[in-house]
Amino acid sequence: MDIMTAVQDACVSGQWLTAIILSLCCFLPSCLPAGQTVDYSSVESVVSRQGDTALLRCYLLDGISKGAWLNRSSIIFAGNDKWSVDPRVSIVSSVGDKHEYSLQIQKVDVTDDGLYTCSIQSERNPRPKLLNLIVKVPPKIYDISPDITVNEGSNVSLICTASGKPEPTITWRHITPLARKYDSGENLNITGITKDQAGDYECSALNDIASPDTKRVKVTVNFAPSIHDIKSHGVGLGRTALLRCEAAAVPSPTFEWYKGEKRIIKGQGIDIKSLSSRSVLTVTNMTEDRYGNYTCVASNKLGTANASVPLNPIIEPTTTSAVSSPGSPRLLQLPPKDIIGDRLLGNFKLSISMNGCLC
Ligand SMILES: *[C@@H]1O[C@H](CO)[C@@H](O)[C@H](O)[C@H]1NC(C)=O
Ligand SMILES: *[C@@H]1O[C@H](CO)[C@@H](O)[C@H](O)[C@H]1NC(C)=O
Ligand SMILES: *[C@@H]1O[C@H](CO)[C@@H](O)[C@H](O)[C@H]1NC(C)=O
Ligand SMILES: *[C@@H]1O[C@H](CO)[C@@H](O)[C@H](O)[C@H]1NC(C)=O
Ligand SMILES: *[C@@H]1O[C@H](CO)[C@@H](O)[C@H](O)[C@H]1NC(C)=O
Ligand SMILES: *[C@@H]1O[C@H](CO)[C@@H](O)[C@H](O)[C@H]1NC(C)=O
Repeated sequence: MDIMTAVQDACVSGQWLTAIILSLCCFLPSCLPAGQTVDYSSVESVVSRQGDTALLRCYLLDGISKGAWLNRSSIIFAGNDKWSVDPRVSIVSSVGDKHEYSLQIQKVDVTDDGLYTCSIQSERNPRPKLLNLIVKVPPKIYDISPDITVNEGSNVSLICTASGKPEPTITWRHITPLARKYDSGENLNITGITKDQAGDYECSALNDIASPDTKRVKVTVNFAPSIHDIKSHGVGLGRTALLRCEAAAVPSPTFEWYKGEKRIIKGQGIDIKSLSSRSVLTVTNMTEDRYGNYTCVASNKLGTANASVPLNPIIEPTTTSAVSSPGSPRLLQLPPKDIIGDRLLGNFKLSISMNGCLC
């Protein structure tokens, strides 16, 4: 029997369900009569985000016509009879002038992706409405390289992988200290890493459904010390002298001070305070034998650097009387102007600042 005749017979005899099912059958590629094809250009797309509730809209012609919903080739609803066992699906019907017969799917997932058919029973050719449900998934980084520590000059390969639908684009960015973008891709390969390339790297996974997912990797680059500043200020006998040495190194360097060949140790009016990148040598109550050439040595497991600076005596102005209280600059009584040379003026300034902190 011709399928259309069967549909009409079914309609006439009031077997609307049979009519619908038979008519739906016509739109399934497996049972299309020869020469007939489904017009996919009329397929409406419905985009939904994973986990959201999707609504596939369909309207009946009038209050008495019947409809049915199919997921691919299986019936979900025939009229208000639910054929599907899936608890997430339901019919949204509103009785207005539009006679809504929409399919609602709660907590949609990628497996729900595909073609849905709403078929409306009518006297003449039943016209199915085709809807393509596209379920998109926000990007999610599921694997990223752990924080690493390497030596300067090493080759570094960072990896970041993410899931999502559509497949997310992955980009890498060097966050600190300078923001720099790299070509997109899961791998970030750095050959011969320099100390400037140390810092935080951010992986970002982006698709068109949500804001990007980002994660960070900290790259620590070890390098040998280099001393970039060493300073001393000449002081008179009995004064306090400060020598300051600054070095860059990762890991932080340890500092040692030498006078000539002799290692200087704390005690007897000498103090050494070392922080991560700086060391300050303090000589309280300067004596004659403590003038001379001082060497600062900074070292870590990758190497050593040294730098030297002389600590010279200076001539103190003789008419200086000092009134001091802890923590405040000394008050200087200046000698008459004609005996203050430019050179001595410089020394006055210095003796004030020596009471403050040089560090
Ligand atoms: C649609 O069909 C697919 C494949 O059979 C199934 O995995 C999915 O759960 C179905 N979705 C709904 C909403 O019926
Ligand atoms: C780093 O990569 C460069 C270029 O690919 C290669 O020539 C070099 O041998 C690599 N160095 C190390 C330590 O693997
Ligand atoms: C980066 O390195 C990884 C592993 O060493 C390699 O598989 C990948 O092809 C490299 N990528 C590029 C863009 O060089
Ligand atoms: C400074 O050193 C001199 C000589 O060693 C000593 O006579 C004097 O008492 C010292 N003064 C202070 C304040 O330590
Ligand atoms: C200071 O000492 C260092 C190391 O001992 C030496 O290389 C340098 O020539 C000395 N400088 C002076 C001015 O003596
Ligand atoms: C300072 O460095 C030079 C070479 O850079 C080295 O010959 C010398 O021994 C070093 N001095 C110290 C005290 O480490």
